[in-house]
Amino acid sequence: MSSLPTTSVAAIADYTEQTVTLAGWIYNKTEKGKLIFIILRDGTGIIQCVVFKKNVSAEAFAAAQSLTQESACRVTGSVRADSRAPGGYELDVQDLEIVDTSPDYPIAPKEHGVEFLMEHRHLWVRSARQHALLRIRAEVIAAAQEWLNDQDFVRFDTPLLTATAAEGTSNLFATEYFDLGTAYLAQTGQLYVEAGMMSFGKVYCFGPTFRAEKSKTRRHLTEFWMIEPEVAFANHDDNLALQENFVSAIVQRVLERRAADLQTLERDTTTLERVVPPFPRITYDEALDLIRKHHREVEGCTPLSWSEDFGAPHETLIAQHFDKPVFVERFPSAIKAFYMEPDPQRPEVALCADLLAPEGYGEIIGGSQRIHDKDLLERRIQEHGLNVADYQWYLDLRRYGSVPHSGFGMGIERAVAWIAGTRHIRETIPFPRMLYRIYP
Ligand code: 4AD
Ligand code: MG
Repeated sequence: MSSLPTTSVAAIADYTEQTVTLAGWIYNKTEKGKLIFIILRDGTGIIQCVVFKKNVSAEAFAAAQSLTQESACRVTGSVRADSRAPGGYELDVQDLEIVDTSPDYPIAPKEHGVEFLMEHRHLWVRSARQHALLRIRAEVIAAAQEWLNDQDFVRFDTPLLTATAAEGTSNLFATEYFDLGTAYLAQTGQLYVEAGMMSFGKVYCFGPTFRAEKSKTRRHLTEFWMIEPEVAFANHDDNLALQENFVSAIVQRVLERRAADLQTLERDTTTLERVVPPFPRITYDEALDLIRKHHREVEGCTPLSWSEDFGAPHETLIAQHFDKPVFVERFPSAIKAFYMEPDPQRPEVALCADLLAPEGYGEIIGGSQRIHDKDLLERRIQEHGLNVADYQWYLDLRRYGSVPHSGFGMGIERAVAWIAGTRHIRETIPFPRMLYRIYP
């Protein structure tokens, strides 16, 4: 015999006027003499359960009286539609059984400082706002993968323990790897997903990536999740078209399916509704002009000279001039990764783009056309001070049937922060890893 509840709160409408058993945790409770109102949450929603003394046994009423926040219980009762109730339904309780008590739950429904909440992240994830954010995260991940699957991309998993760097050597997490020397936690799956691309044509990898970044900003995690599509024969323009379709599809699906969560978060959805192709494009040089003209309007924004990289204030300023995500393309090769294809018209810039989210959320995607010529790639590896011997397998991809190809990586947490409208990236992942946080 199953010990699962009859149904979930989310599906309660199907059980109107029927008797069901729900199982969950106490979100809130108020007592009015012979009446006890319980707000039960079961992970799918919340429902008010009305315990009327004369409808239940003395034990069940005493159990209801003893319930505290986050006590776990099973509640049996009949489902009644009530337009005034949160969610539109109420449960008239017939029986109630405590599964476990919850004395002195640390997160009371009062304001706690963020440090306290981060220390209690394992409990904080039960709170309404966090619940909504993490539901949106799950939707973004599902939408991203399903959209790619529908476009005939094949998921190609890449290793997390790697022997080489792909995104610079200054932010690698290193670990000893038996007798084989040092291994690094993957900064990206890209180099490996390129091997998959040569096998399947269209692939993506999806998994955690690691950057030992000593930056303590609201946009940086040391462990974040990235989805990285890679397409054979695609050029830079094809890559941007793929990105804008991909991002738009994800945003529109979240609007459609997670409206209630967006509402819980008080997200202004008008800016999200505008997220449809095409996205505006400007070059790095045009971005520098924009910054030169308007830098006084954004705090901490200084004019940049050519081949300096953007900081967060620069990204914010650029994004402010557009009402959709904006591509900044053709950065100086010198400030980008070694594998990016140079612009044939202007070899000092790369066929790459960063996609900046509106409203100051910063870069959510980095992508490029890849160098497909073996000799040029080998030169670039050397120029970046990397050991060519370590990259022989990657150079093999250029030795045997090399083709032009492009791809990109979207950081899940940055995308969720923007879509859900939460300023700090730390709330967009269940257990954030940051410069000063590894607990819980
Ligand atoms: O621009 P990045 O470094 O690009 C790559 O890693 C490429 N190999 C991707 C590819 O072409 N396949 O990182 C891509 C995205 C960024 O736009 C951002 O969304 C996210 O990954 N990201 C981070 N998110 C949270 N914390 C960090 N420290 C991040 N660093 C990058
Ligand atoms: Mg980048």
